[in-house]
Amino acid sequence: MKEKILEYLFTHQEEFTSGEVLRKKFNVSRTAIWKHIKTLKEEGYQITSISNKGYQLQIEEDQLVSYELEKILGKEIEVFQSIDSTNNYLKRGMQDFPDKKMVLSEEQKQGRGRLGRDWYSPKGAGLFFSMLLKPKISMQESFKITGIAAAAVAEAIEEVTGLPAKIKWPNDITVNGKKVCGILTEVSGEMDKINYLIVGIGINVNTPDFSADLKAMATSLYLEKKEKISRKDLFVTLAKKFFYFYDDFTERKNLQEVHGILEGRSAILGKEIFVIRGEEKKQGMAMAISEDGFLKVRYDSGEEEVLSSGEVSVRGLEGYL
Ligand code: BTN
Repeated sequence: MKEKILEYLFTHQEEFTSGEVLRKKFNVSRTAIWKHIKTLKEEGYQITSISNKGYQLQIEEDQLVSYELEKILGKEIEVFQSIDSTNNYLKRGMQDFPDKKMVLSEEQKQGRGRLGRDWYSPKGAGLFFSMLLKPKISMQESFKITGIAAAAVAEAIEEVTGLPAKIKWPNDITVNGKKVCGILTEVSGEMDKINYLIVGIGINVNTPDFSADLKAMATSLYLEKKEKISRKDLFVTLAKKFFYFYDDFTERKNLQEVHGILEGRSAILGKEIFVIRGEEKKQGMAMAISEDGFLKVRYDSGEEEVLSSGEVSVRGLEGYL
């Protein structure tokens, strides 16, 4: 019912809608209408109520509205004003949530990055979202999903902003040598069959500034482009690309296009890098990315190694990359 009221107000934004009109339309009491409006307000929707006139919804420019996004993408999409972490939210409810459910939040209080790090998630400045996926694939194959996400993010960034987006294997997207996006993929299941996978994506879209310690390696699309970017356009473009690649992989096992993007947009192939594993740091050349999403490295000793995304971090010789 709440969603229906939101849909009605959304499609009648230019006018006030009286409680009576809503009551008749949805065949519920005025009190019920009032309660749903109150909940919508608590969820962050700006609804002006004037006695004798009714209710009017005001959508701010670039506000992420679940109703609108669901209509465009045809998936269940929840939008929070604030949350601990969108990955945590999906993990808590994954039994009840449908496959491909997406959840976004305007801010995260405990946004999480890889290797136990925090993810800076200030209100309204970025895209912080997660997707719940229940594909019939093995644990080994699940690494490929991070690659699919990275390819979709990089392509979407370039399409929407025109900025040259690169992929720093396995899960960072960079622009002009600094990180604009990180991907945190969490998997639960057995080696031969996973139960579910949560892909969390954080993009610094309109972030105006970073703390001194983040500044050296992080930037935002706004800082690089020097103009505000539409988070809605970016999200929609990205989600469409992600599910196009994802369906191609899960339904047809086809990863050709993704693999081409991962290699073509790689920030590290053909470069000297440091491979960091805990306290250990080894220098070598990034040689190739396999279709499975593994990175082949040749160390200065001549020894070669194939790395999976879960085990290492990669850095450029002079800083982030
Ligand atoms: C990294 O680069 O370390 C990965 C960062 C992933 C951040 C995103 S933001 C949405 C989702 N929720 C989280 O708590 N983390 C991911």
